[in-house]
Amino acid sequence: MLKNYSPTQAKAWQKLEKHYKEIAPKHLRELFAQEPQRFEKFSLQLDDMLFDLSKNRITEETLSLLTELAEEMELPAAIESMFQGEPINATEGRAVLHTALRNFSDESLEVDGENILPEVREVQQQMKTFCQKLHSGEWTGYTGKPINHVVNIGIGGSDLGPQMICEALKSYKKENIEISFISNVDGTDAAETLRHLNPETTLFIIASKTFTTKETITNANTAREWFLKKAEDKEHVKKHFVALSTNVEAVVEFGIASENIFRFWDWVGGRFSLWSAIGLSIACALGYDRFEELLKGAEAMDKHFRQAPLRQNIPAQLALLSIWYTNFFGCQTHAVLPYDQYLRLLPDYLQQLMMESNGKSTDRNGKTVTYETQPVVWGAAGTNSQHSFFQLIHQGTVLIPSDFIAPAISQNPLGQHHALLLSNFFAQTEALMKGKTEEEVREELSKKNMSSEELEQLVPHKVFEGNKPSTSIMFKQLSPYTLGNLVAMYEHKTFVQGVIWNVYSFDQWGVELGKQLAGTIEGELLQDKQASHDSSTAGLIDYYRNNR
Ligand code: F6P
Repeated sequence: MLKNYSPTQAKAWQKLEKHYKEIAPKHLRELFAQEPQRFEKFSLQLDDMLFDLSKNRITEETLSLLTELAEEMELPAAIESMFQGEPINATEGRAVLHTALRNFSDESLEVDGENILPEVREVQQQMKTFCQKLHSGEWTGYTGKPINHVVNIGIGGSDLGPQMICEALKSYKKENIEISFISNVDGTDAAETLRHLNPETTLFIIASKTFTTKETITNANTAREWFLKKAEDKEHVKKHFVALSTNVEAVVEFGIASENIFRFWDWVGGRFSLWSAIGLSIACALGYDRFEELLKGAEAMDKHFRQAPLRQNIPAQLALLSIWYTNFFGCQTHAVLPYDQYLRLLPDYLQQLMMESNGKSTDRNGKTVTYETQPVVWGAAGTNSQHSFFQLIHQGTVLIPSDFIAPAISQNPLGQHHALLLSNFFAQTEALMKGKTEEEVREELSKKNMSSEELEQLVPHKVFEGNKPSTSIMFKQLSPYTLGNLVAMYEHKTFVQGVIWNVYSFDQWGVELGKQLAGTIEGELLQDKQASHDSSTAGLIDYYRNNR
């Protein structure tokens, strides 16, 4: 089971506090000057994935102390607990086994005394058969026409993962199938998507682990109404609606044929579910074989995470770096900056993965933590982000560690575009690290034709402090395998952070209160029921009623 004590009690934590005081005043320029081999020393590699940690404010001692902290918190035992299916999601009494969904070995893996792998393979076979029928045109709509548009209706983990993967692997997409996503309960999402579709050739995937999520059920009902308006006969629903869920009863009650249900299990967390039946939209968009490549990429990272010593363990080291910045430097945010347009949804996906997992302030003893936990995760694709928020990363008052991510080969090798894109990636990490000193600014400006008064005025504004940490992640080409590798890395990084912060990473009680209150207010808005509220909430409800 997971060790249960505050990381601040660990001996390594006290050592890190002391060590921080030595590192904080040092500039990365100085560290690079002292250790010209930092790249070799602080890079890690798995297959063709490169993780360069050298532009971080660390020395070998930092990493060994952080690794010591992970050992004291019994990280290796925690990793085993997860892989072996112990109920480490204790507040929900569940195992955490998304890794079983990409386990291609012959081993047996028991949950409650039963080997779960045969069932996993069964559902995978069901997905494969479904995709074959869809892609070959054998699966037809109610008028006999083949399906050419698949719409995934889901939210949170039942939307963000599949949508991010479909967008990232767009260049691998099957030609005869288009894919769309409806998630928001704002009717605009459904209206704008359905507007262009033909009910005869559209198939809806209703993706919901619980099948009780209000947004998804509302959108699913709207889609069914839209479909029946044209198809008329309820019998036709069978050919146009399938469901992905752990709640078979609720799906059947909704009216979806039992043979059209793709099951998964409560040991798959919502934000970790893209590898399960929830990935059906991915398999529809790319073909089942590509989906399997994605799983295999994740499996390779799982093996690395389970077997590699902590100092060489990529997810563990990246998680420990985040602990270093959050708990010792006091950083409150972390930027994710993909230099690949196809990865533009990665920051959104990681926001749920990390912030829903570790955005907690109660530890595993039920006590309020006395240290910071999950920083805010945010970001956007480069180079666009350089022209919006990079100013603040370079010259603002807060320290923002960042991940830069890019492939060496573009999927769209247009002229000089990729070399230009990557020049920006490399230049930004270099600029963040080095900055520009006052002397350098003076020297640069002295070559320009300006008065000394103008020069003096300008100098302070053109100085870059530098010393801004970044981690660079590169791979040869964005493929299903590489993406599986990358996403699994971030999943395990999230897990490690939760272990160190001594929080339960696999529940999400924090989303419940809003849902509960929305249920009450919904009754007031739709059925004119009355409830008592604070003056602000009451005032807003009145404003809506008077203006709707
Ligand atoms: O936002 C809370 C949450 O439960 C997420 O964890 C989950 O991914 C999402 O809602 C959707 O849940 P479901 O798949 O059960 O509809």
